[in-house]
Amino acid sequence: MKPTDTDATHILAADHRTVEGLFEEFEKASGSDRKAKLAEKICTELKIHAQIEEEVFYPALKGKIDDDLLKEAYVEHDGAKMLINDILASGPEDEYFEAKVTVLSEEIRHHVKEEEKQHDNMFQQARAADVDLDALGERMLARKGELKRQAETAGLPPAELVTM
Ligand SMILES: [Fe+2]
Ligand SMILES: [Fe+2]
Repeated sequence: MKPTDTDATHILAADHRTVEGLFEEFEKASGSDRKAKLAEKICTELKIHAQIEEEVFYPALKGKIDDDLLKEAYVEHDGAKMLINDILASGPEDEYFEAKVTVLSEEIRHHVKEEEKQHDNMFQQARAADVDLDALGERMLARKGELKRQAETAGLPPAELVTM
């Protein structure tokens, strides 16, 4: 058996692919039940992802990568969290439901670009910095497991904003 890949940037990139796939499914889906289920799944994935980045990954990069990039990431998370909380609270009855999910997908696309796709992105900077990506990855996997269990049982509370 292959040992688990614990590189923090690989774990986070895999989450990004998962969410991109879910947004694609949402776009193709028909029927408001199906759309509602997918939107809920997307929002839960993103809440957990943002939380492990904010609790573990971003703090470890503070002072070691471009500070503007890191600050913008927190603000972008909060923008997405406002939409996520709203989508989860209102659901498909809302006349702006689909528009909100579409705008969320656009915001996330932009954010993911800055984290792992654009020139000199955050993950590149993290790999070049003096941080133990495997140790961070292990902590994130553990926290992700806890949050997933919470999502499936008691449910997650609304996402908390940290910059506004
Ligand atoms: Fe991310
Ligand atoms: Fe992020």
